[in-house]
Amino acid sequence: MNISKPRGTNDFLPPESSKILAIEQKLRELCAIYNYQEIRTPIFEDTELFVRGVGNATDIVQKEMYTFLDQGERSLTLRPENTAAACRAYIENKLYGLAQPVKLFYIGPMFRYERPQAGRFRQFHQFGLELFGSAEPAADAEIISFAWRFYQQLGIRDLNLRINSVGCPNCRAAYKRALQDYFRPHLAALCGSCRDRFERNPLRLLDCKSQHCHDIGNNAPQIYDYLCGDCSAHFAQLKTLLDAASLPYALDWRMVRGLDYYTKTAFEIEAKQIGAQSAVCGGGRYDGLIEEIGGAPTPAVGFALGIERIFTALKAQGDDIDVEQGVEVFLISHDNDCKPAAFRLCEQLRAAGFSADMEYGSKSLKAQMKAADRMQAAYTLIIGGDELLRGEAVLRNMDKSEQITLPVDNIVSHLLRIKNSSDKE
Ligand code: HAM
Repeated sequence: MNISKPRGTNDFLPPESSKILAIEQKLRELCAIYNYQEIRTPIFEDTELFVRGVGNATDIVQKEMYTFLDQGERSLTLRPENTAAACRAYIENKLYGLAQPVKLFYIGPMFRYERPQAGRFRQFHQFGLELFGSAEPAADAEIISFAWRFYQQLGIRDLNLRINSVGCPNCRAAYKRALQDYFRPHLAALCGSCRDRFERNPLRLLDCKSQHCHDIGNNAPQIYDYLCGDCSAHFAQLKTLLDAASLPYALDWRMVRGLDYYTKTAFEIEAKQIGAQSAVCGGGRYDGLIEEIGGAPTPAVGFALGIERIFTALKAQGDDIDVEQGVEVFLISHDNDCKPAAFRLCEQLRAAGFSADMEYGSKSLKAQMKAADRMQAAYTLIIGGDELLRGEAVLRNMDKSEQITLPVDNIVSHLLRIKNSSDKE
């Protein structure tokens, strides 16, 4: 039996893997511009972290975690997201002792046992920002601005930025009651998961995917009538800041997000063209999470984006990421006797910083030329025959189909001169 990759996972092969690297590079550059530094946390954590952090009532904790016992009978879970782990690391490494805010980013695989479909995987990759130690709306605005700017720079079109406030534990209690009063007469008509959530998490009834439940919720009370003074002022100031930076947001009172830790701001960016899994990123403020997992009360805000969904969005609009491919020099040897000279030159070129490759075995000149074409070599270096006896080799510019004969000892310096002069152009 052939062994295949687990359902909902991907092999990223060249050139896709280079495109991912190019995206990550862009994200890292933007992090430098916005002054965020990288954090790397373990791929697995104590299960309790996610139960308490993400929330016991969430789909993630109830149905989607990869949880296992290790040899020491500890319950561990492959991280379904990175916010809870970043908070754990903030507490454990006493990052609260540093000047605040602490601004971190991460990139890496996350794991959720979801039903795989286009844009939804069981192992997927997230990039995220977490900003700890500021309760100011300007911090929320910065996170949203980062996300928006990134997609603008990538040229992704038709994006929809939706924002909401989900209040704080003080004002949310009254809102939950109002929602329960509204939905109670419709309970029998709601889907199974809405009925399940009615007691535990009535806010989630607002964003049910079923059209029927959605329609029932159309006239539900809106959170804006329930926000306390502090949450209301925070939301108003956030909108003022987003307006000041001309960020084109829409208010969406039904957007509540699938993780329990949010307070005040919640936001998502959607790319309509990519179908059902249209959220390219999401995030918000989570002022209670650090305390929930054992730290001192610390305000925080962040977001995460799905790397795979960037490609789906680009593909849907007929675009792609350009990556440079091919080697600079491919070495061709006339016969096996020339291999040591070819190998020496290949190594000299690599030592000088050129990407260089060669045929390892004995193939005809024609087959080696074909290999050079396949590798999109800018130059081929042909070693052997009378030239090698004279201490020379033939350097061929593949684009121009021109070639010159050079002393073997001058080849590296010759190519360096060409490279330096084209760098200056
Ligand atoms: P999330 O909305 O669960 O938030 O995930 C963020 C993004 O990850 C989604 O918008 C989507 O692009 C991508 N994503 C999620 N699940 C999958 C999947 N199964 N397959 C492919 N892509 C997926 C969080 O994870 C929060 N930790 C974000 C956050 C950070 N909030 C505050 N700080």
